[in-house]
Amino acid sequence: MTILCDPAARAGQLSHAVGVVGSDVVTAATLAETGRLLAADPAELLVVIGAAVDLNEALVFAETMRVERPTVGVVLLREVLDVVVLTQALRAGVREVVARDDLPSLADACARSRALSAQVTGVPQPHADERKHGQVITVFSAKGGCGKTTLAVNLAAVLAAGGARSVCLVDLDLAFGDVGICLRAEPVRTIVHGLGMLGHLDVTGTSSLLTACRPGLSALLAPVEPGDAERIPATLVSELLEVLPTMFDFVVVDTPSAFSEHVLAAMDASHHHVLLTTPDVPALKNLRVTLDMLDLLSYAHDIRSVVLNRSDSKVGLSMDDIERVVRSDIRAHVPSSRDVPISVNKGNPIVLDLPKHSVSEAIARFAREHVLTEPAVIAAKSKRWFR
Ligand SMILES: Nc1ncnc2c1ncn2[C@@H]1O[C@H](COP(=O)(O)OP(=O)(O)O)[C@@H](O)[C@H]1O
Ligand SMILES: [Mg+2]
Repeated sequence: MTILCDPAARAGQLSHAVGVVGSDVVTAATLAETGRLLAADPAELLVVIGAAVDLNEALVFAETMRVERPTVGVVLLREVLDVVVLTQALRAGVREVVARDDLPSLADACARSRALSAQVTGVPQPHADERKHGQVITVFSAKGGCGKTTLAVNLAAVLAAGGARSVCLVDLDLAFGDVGICLRAEPVRTIVHGLGMLGHLDVTGTSSLLTACRPGLSALLAPVEPGDAERIPATLVSELLEVLPTMFDFVVVDTPSAFSEHVLAAMDASHHHVLLTTPDVPALKNLRVTLDMLDLLSYAHDIRSVVLNRSDSKVGLSMDDIERVVRSDIRAHVPSSRDVPISVNKGNPIVLDLPKHSVSEAIARFAREHVLTEPAVIAAKSKRWFR
């Protein structure tokens, strides 16, 4: 069988061309549907992606296939063939690019891809039990400007360790997310594109939403169009946070400064709650309210870490004052430095830009001591007793 992904009306004609190679053709309107058809048929060997499918989505799909189903050949149809598209396609692992109207060439390309697949069949496929069981870490503070995004971005970067581990940073600050800016990542694909997959998100569909940022580090970016944030239901967040840990070693979630339904969905899916404050009375008061709220919702205490950002600010509060309000250990003290906003302006997290900096060392130490080495504490996901 061959899967033809083409939402366009010409699908019938193309089916004929693909069918020329002597096999049944099944059509899919979207790449997400194509992914589902592939998942249902482990013996499938060929996907033809029509010219109406977005190029970037097609390339991400081909990249995913190359890793997850190397026996599946991807043949891409385009309106016009130019060197840029051909180079990009080749890099992404597309086997052949054919002009949309060149049906004989399409039939030939399909035949060649099948022959190649026949040669490589036998390459081991990842099994369900080889999926990752990644840790979800949600970074939250009820007060804006405490440093949530700064910590989330740098924690994700330090956990990725230059590609040694796989990390996905999720921007749940849907209305004002700035993860993309902090990492200089172009928001071509965002969480909004997941709306069409609501209820049936899988690994292939989720991959198509991600932006590769640094070695080992991908991001699920927040919407860019005004009004899009309100279209994202909390159920999409829950679904994404079910799939992402099967794909990554760590999923770090940046949040808005409010206890929204989306934040609660993230808290529910988390193995670790990182709660941030700064040494000023409003931030401490908000942290106290947050801790009380988390207690009320029956989240476990042992999955919590309180982090004090700008810990060296001379603001007339002693560490005793702070710990009295917080009523728990402070697991990391991140100093204040103007190098932090400078790194943001450069679009390079400080842990990568200046790894020996005191801010970088504080975040790296926190990752080492409390994220990477506490399997017992963070083995179980948090579950509220009621919802
Ligand atoms: N330790 C720090 N030292 C200096 N500036 C910081 C520090 N942490 C955060 N900032 C700056 O404070 C501002 C708010 O931080 P941000 O991470 O965006 O907060 P939030 O996401 O909680 O709203 C940013 O300009 C950031 O660069
Ligand atoms: Mg933020």
